[in-house]
Amino acid sequence: MTPCILITGGAGYIGSHTAVTLMEAGHRVVIIDNLCNSSPRVLDRLRRLCGNSFEFVQADVRDGAALDAIFTQHPVNSVIHFAGLKAVGESMAQPLRYFDNNVGSTISLLQAMDRADVRRIVFSSSATVYGDPQQVPIPETAPLKATNPYGRTKLICEDMLRDLQCADPRWQVAILRYFNPVGAHPSGLIGEAPSGVPNNLMPYITQVAVGQRDYLSIFGNDYPTPDGTGVRDYIHVMDLARGHLAALDHLANEQQSITVNLGTGYGVSVKQLVDTFSRVAGRPIAHRHVARRSGDVAACYADTSLARTILGWQAEHDIARMCEDAWRWQSINPTGYAS
Ligand code: NAD
Ligand code: WQD
Repeated sequence: MTPCILITGGAGYIGSHTAVTLMEAGHRVVIIDNLCNSSPRVLDRLRRLCGNSFEFVQADVRDGAALDAIFTQHPVNSVIHFAGLKAVGESMAQPLRYFDNNVGSTISLLQAMDRADVRRIVFSSSATVYGDPQQVPIPETAPLKATNPYGRTKLICEDMLRDLQCADPRWQVAILRYFNPVGAHPSGLIGEAPSGVPNNLMPYITQVAVGQRDYLSIFGNDYPTPDGTGVRDYIHVMDLARGHLAALDHLANEQQSITVNLGTGYGVSVKQLVDTFSRVAGRPIAHRHVARRSGDVAACYADTSLARTILGWQAEHDIARMCEDAWRWQSINPTGYAS
């Protein structure tokens, strides 16, 4: 039987785009998702894009028996672990829920993989593990420091994966630290569909553009950045998806574990992103300057040299393309998957 890749959280934003990229590259895919932060309609969209070349299991990754059944029924040879909760503010209000879900699902997954003799995993980490960075661009060797429970769950999972590699060299682990994923598949069929008020900048901008929100609040205009607004490393979700393919290829070919930043290496300010979006979408984005958001850092962007050297991967899409694709998705689907 042709081997396949298990994607946890594959109905979510990054997981769905990665599923498409893997299937387009000829891989068979099994998705496990409990749909706690995604819509079953994603699956119809995936079928429209890729046909029936994937299986979907609605289950919680903390359910070891459900994982065992997947490993028994499918010839899984690697896993990409996206499943997790990701809202920083929510993690501060509900830390136990975050530790239970994010750390609990990772432990359950690693145990099931061990039972099934599958020890190749790509893990979704985040630039949040760098805390308030001492230098930009940030290399992978920078000090790690979580500043909120969400970030701590990512650090704990990273540590767990490092301990596992030390204990048993058969484990092949790629820890990918994403910067700020934005944009959507060029078809406009899948994209980012946050429930409730978006926490992140790009979905807020697209919802203002489509008339769902009155204006964007720009958090802080007195940062030590060129225009005073926060600077981030926005990366197109399709570039990010391709980074997972490169990481899997690396693990299969080199059998060596890695920890790599996935970003563009370029910092873009809130103001620059808003201006570019307005130009691309051909409409102004109403905004107001408000106080800084607590916990935000002034600037955060990646040193991407390791990804280039060891994965042979680099981001290709620029900010205008990120805005164009995010806007296509939002304008075709004004209320996300409910449209
Ligand atoms: P998302 O919420 O869109 O996708 C996560 C998916 O996991 C959802 O479909 C959700 O239903 C599912 N899920 C959550 N807990 C589960 C569980 N216990 N069992 C089964 N399914 C479960 O989020 P995303 O933006 O696609 O993020 C994917 C991963 O990347 C997450 O681990 C996130 O922490 C990480 N990450 C995201 C960003 C970002 O800005 N989007 C940045 C850095 C890292
Ligand atoms: C980007 C910039 C805001 C919203 C978060 C998580 C991080 C990672 C990615 C998962 C900042 C400004 C935002 C708004 C604004 N996720 N902003 N008005 O904070 O870099 O990172 O998402 O791992 O862990 O912390 O992303 O999109 O929230 O903010 O002015 O309504 O936009 O202040 O400068 P952030 P973001």
